Amino acid sequence: MKATIKDIDLKNKKVLLRVDFNVPLDDNQNINDDNRIVEELPTIKYILEQDAKLIICSHLGRPKAKEAKYSLKPAAVRLGELLNKEVKLSSDVVGKDSVAKAKALKSGEILMLENLRFEAGEEANDETFCKKLAALADVYVNDAFGTAHRKHASTYGVAKLLPNAVGFLMGKEINAILGAINNPDRPFVAITGGSKISDKIKVIDSLLDKVDTLIVGGGMAYTFIKALGGNVGKSIVDDTKIELAKELMDKAKLKNVNFLLPIDNGCGTEFSKDAKRKEFESFNIASNYQGLDIGKKSVKVFKRALKSAKTIIWNGTLGVSEWENYEFGTKQVAKAIAKSKATTIIGGGDSAAAIIKFGYKDKVTHISTGGGASMQLLESGTLPGIEVINDVKKED
Ligand code: 3PG
Repeated sequence: MKATIKDIDLKNKKVLLRVDFNVPLDDNQNINDDNRIVEELPTIKYILEQDAKLIICSHLGRPKAKEAKYSLKPAAVRLGELLNKEVKLSSDVVGKDSVAKAKALKSGEILMLENLRFEAGEEANDETFCKKLAALADVYVNDAFGTAHRKHASTYGVAKLLPNAVGFLMGKEINAILGAINNPDRPFVAITGGSKISDKIKVIDSLLDKVDTLIVGGGMAYTFIKALGGNVGKSIVDDTKIELAKELMDKAKLKNVNFLLPIDNGCGTEFSKDAKRKEFESFNIASNYQGLDIGKKSVKVFKRALKSAKTIIWNGTLGVSEWENYEFGTKQVAKAIAKSKATTIIGGGDSAAAIIKFGYKDKVTHISTGGGASMQLLESGTLPGIEVINDVKKED
C-alpha cells in the first residue's frame, strides 16, 4: 500500500504538494470548470491543519516557454476564494522569488509556484531541476491524479528526493478505479467510446480480461464493424487496425465476454454539427454518410446490459455528444448509468464532461479528475506517479 498523508509527519514541515490545476480557461483567463481545485480542498485543508507551510505546484496547459496566458494566477485566485485565505504566487518556479517566498513561509501559509512547465526541466524530469524543487521543501505529497501518468520532475523525480506520500484525491481515485476493476461485483460492464481505436486498444485488451460485457461505441466502433464485413460508408475507420479489431473480438469470444457493438447509427453526410441526421443499420450505412452517434436500437440493447450490471465503468462518448443532433446515444447511456444501482465509475475527459452536461454528476459513484491518467490506470493497473511513492505496511 502506498503511504498517504496520514502516514507521514507533516507537523510544521514545508510540504511540496503536486496538484493538477490544469483547468480550462476562457480567452479572458476565467476558469470554466474549477472541479479540479474543489476536489483538492480536503488535502489542502488537512495539510494546513498540521500547521505545515504549504507549497503548491502544478502545470497548466502545454506552454513552450514562459507565456502569460499559461500563468497559474487564475488558479491561485480561485483557491484563495475557496479557502478564504491568501494564496501567494511566486513569479518563477524554482528561481530567486520562489526560494525567497518558500523560505519566508510561516505555518498555515500557502505559496503557489508558477507553472512548472515554464521550466524545460519539468517534462524532461531533469535531475538538477528535481533537486531545486526538492530543496524548497521537507516533504513531498502527490495529489495530481490527472498527471500521474506523466514521468515528470514534479510527479516522479522529486519523489525520490524527499519523504513522500499520496494525498486524499489520489487515494480516492486509486481506490475507486482499481477497486472497481480488481474486485468488481458482477456482472461487470465496461463502456468504451471515443473516435480513435488506436487510443483505446490497450484499454479494450486489458478490460477483456476483467469484464462480463464490453460495449464499444463512438467512432472506433466502425473499425470493428468493417472488420466484420459491414459497409460503414464514410464513417471513420482505421484500416491499419482491422486485423487487430478481429483479434480483440476473437479474444472476447475466447474469454466469454459479451462484446456489443452498435446495431444502428445516427449518420450525417459530413462531420458537422449541422449535418442532418439520418438513421442507418450498422452494416448498411450509405456510401455518402458517416456514423456520428448510435441509434435507438443500440441504446435499447446497451441499456439492457447496463440494467443487470453491478459494476459499470465508462470511458469515452458514444457519438459526437457536444452536438445536439448527435448527443442522443451518449445522453441515453449517461441516463442509464445514473439510474443504475451499480457501482458506477466515470473515466475523466469526455465521458466526465458528458455526465456533468446531462445533469447526472451526483448520480454516479465516482467521476475521475483524470482523462489520460484514468485510461492508463485501467490499462496497466498503476501509474508512474503512484509507483514512485513509498510503500507502507498496513494491518488488515
Ligand atoms: C490532463 O488534463 O489530462 C492532465 O493535466 C495532463 O495534461 P497533459 O496531457 O498536458 O500532460
